[in-house]
Amino acid sequence: MTAVTKAVFPVAGLGTRFLPATKAMPKELLPIIDKPIVQFAVEEAIAAGITELIFVTGRNKRAVGDHFDANLELESQLLAKGKTELRDLVRNIVPEGVSCIFVRQPEPLGLGHAVLCAAPAVGNNPFAVLLADDLMHGTDLPTSALVAAFKDAQHTILSVSEVPEIDVTKYGILKHGAQDASGLITVQGLVEKPAVEEAPSRMASFGRYIFTPEVFDLLRALKPGSGAEIQLADAIDQLAAQGKVSAIMNPSRRYDCGDKFGYLNAIVDLALANSDYRDWFSALLRDRVAKLERNE
Ligand code: G1P
Repeated sequence: MTAVTKAVFPVAGLGTRFLPATKAMPKELLPIIDKPIVQFAVEEAIAAGITELIFVTGRNKRAVGDHFDANLELESQLLAKGKTELRDLVRNIVPEGVSCIFVRQPEPLGLGHAVLCAAPAVGNNPFAVLLADDLMHGTDLPTSALVAAFKDAQHTILSVSEVPEIDVTKYGILKHGAQDASGLITVQGLVEKPAVEEAPSRMASFGRYIFTPEVFDLLRALKPGSGAEIQLADAIDQLAAQGKVSAIMNPSRRYDCGDKFGYLNAIVDLALANSDYRDWFSALLRDRVAKLERNE
């Protein structure tokens, strides 16, 4: 039995939906109040026992590396001002015993291609993939649930949730069988962004996966699929045809932070979930809603 200790974070996307904010800044560093989106995914992976973080970056992504690297100058300035808590906050973003590797995706050829770029760093090991745009919030997070499920299954596992019919065109949609007593759902196929009338179900795969390294050979052989890109979903579909894919329900709340509405929704919910802001922020929201209702 092999444990999952490596996680791949594809962070090469352009973030065009957030221009001009993302003209010079990686979209993964957009903050939810004071924490960059990608740090939520990294913390989720570390909480699941991952000790090697592999970032697949592209142009203009140096700041992602800087964010997870030590900044000794900032640390000593904070210490000199007696701000030890803040010093610890920046110092412990990547705790001791966890390492970061950065590989470059030379061209934006799709999510499947981005994951394939991580192959030399992953080697012959199972690995998690986390798409930082999908921000997960709650007491149980999907990567820990996937790691636990992988211990028994030892094959590819996806985190899934049901979506409204209208939204099937935005996601990888499962063709699936029954759920067993342990919560594993048999996956028979995965269709990337199908038309509503062609969707095999309403069960969508979200940005959390665990793969065995055999996925790399399938990715290498893939032709461009949906959107003329090398699709991770197409490799999963092939693995599913061989009976080597299961899914588990996402145990947390998901926010699509690649989208402005999802991003705003995450900020509102996480502010309300934080005892530092909850009282005044909910008072502010109530006041604004009351004004809206009075048409002010
Ligand atoms: C990617 C995947 C898709 C998945 C989605 C949400 O699409 O290709 O299968 O459902 O993430 O996690 P993207 O949103 O990057 O276009």
